[in-house]
Amino acid sequence: MTSLKLIKTMDIVKYLKEKKALVEAAMAGMAPGGKGLTDRLHQAMNYSLEAGGKRIRPILTIAACEALGGDINKVMPAACALEFIHTYSLIHDDLPAMDDDDYRRGEPTCHRAFDEATAILAGDGLLTAAFELLTRSDLFEGVDPATAMEVANDIARAAGHGGMVGGQQADMDAEGKEVDLPTLEFIHTHKTGALILASIKAGAKLGGGSPKKIKALIKYGEAAGLAFQVADDILDVTGDTTTLGKDAGSDEARGKATYPAILGVREAKNRAAELLDTALDSLNTFDSKADPLREIARYIVNRTH
Ligand code: IPE
Ligand code: IPE
Ligand code: MG
Ligand code: MG
Ligand code: MG
Repeated sequence: MTSLKLIKTMDIVKYLKEKKALVEAAMAGMAPGGKGLTDRLHQAMNYSLEAGGKRIRPILTIAACEALGGDINKVMPAACALEFIHTYSLIHDDLPAMDDDDYRRGEPTCHRAFDEATAILAGDGLLTAAFELLTRSDLFEGVDPATAMEVANDIARAAGHGGMVGGQQADMDAEGKEVDLPTLEFIHTHKTGALILASIKAGAKLGGGSPKKIKALIKYGEAAGLAFQVADDILDVTGDTTTLGKDAGSDEARGKATYPAILGVREAKNRAAELLDTALDSLNTFDSKADPLREIARYIVNRTH
């Protein structure tokens, strides 16, 4: 006899909203400040931080910690630091010397709202503020110092020349050129995948994961991180500026190396679906505490902005 089971799936929209509020409250407490001659710098830093955004990286840090039954209070400073780094990367990514975009998170880009020099410095300020947070021992009370150090090192490597910055260089070098699929994958796993993976790793390590669980979460993070940029490329083609909150069609205009440009939108969507399967498979040994991670992976490939 088959029993009819009502399976209650979690409400991912509600989850993302709640966690976004949590992250924003924590960030408000850690917001870069200072009076006097640096007012304009702090205004620019906070302008970009407060413009909004999905906060998906800090939410992934929290969700990875929750998947292990960890204490999320222990991950909040790292979660905020990751959002600082991400916001800096967006400010610099939008600069005239890079993607030259005018619109971000539904507002004029930082260099448009302020000026180019201030936007460069606001990015620099956010990047360094992130490492200030990651190395504040008072914020990591109750965390094994070696673990805190390891997480800071993971994040530095993911953000730097061997990760996001390296990927951004490869992205700029590829502009207007035909690139092969391995090069494209290098660009995407570095410019975007690395920081997303670091966000999950931070949650996994600060959440007290066993080596086996951390390994599984790394597999999840690699797939979700690449899927995130494949979806971003697709949205640049299929989305509109108002919904995206940033300039649609910017990739084609600049001759960027993207999945739709190389494979077409259909194949790019297939690739994203494959990556989603990989991400979900990697969570096979996790219980329902990993449902938020499962739903976030689905959200990453099916989102509209
Ligand atoms: C945009 O990131 C830049 C990429 C790495 C693709 P998000 O899509 O996470 O941007 P926000 O933070 O929600 O604005
Ligand atoms: C972003 O790639 C990578 C970053 C490190 C910021 P994109 O250039 O595609 O990001 P968007 O589309 O401008 O947000
Ligand atoms: Mg770019
Ligand atoms: Mg861009
Ligand atoms: Mg893009």
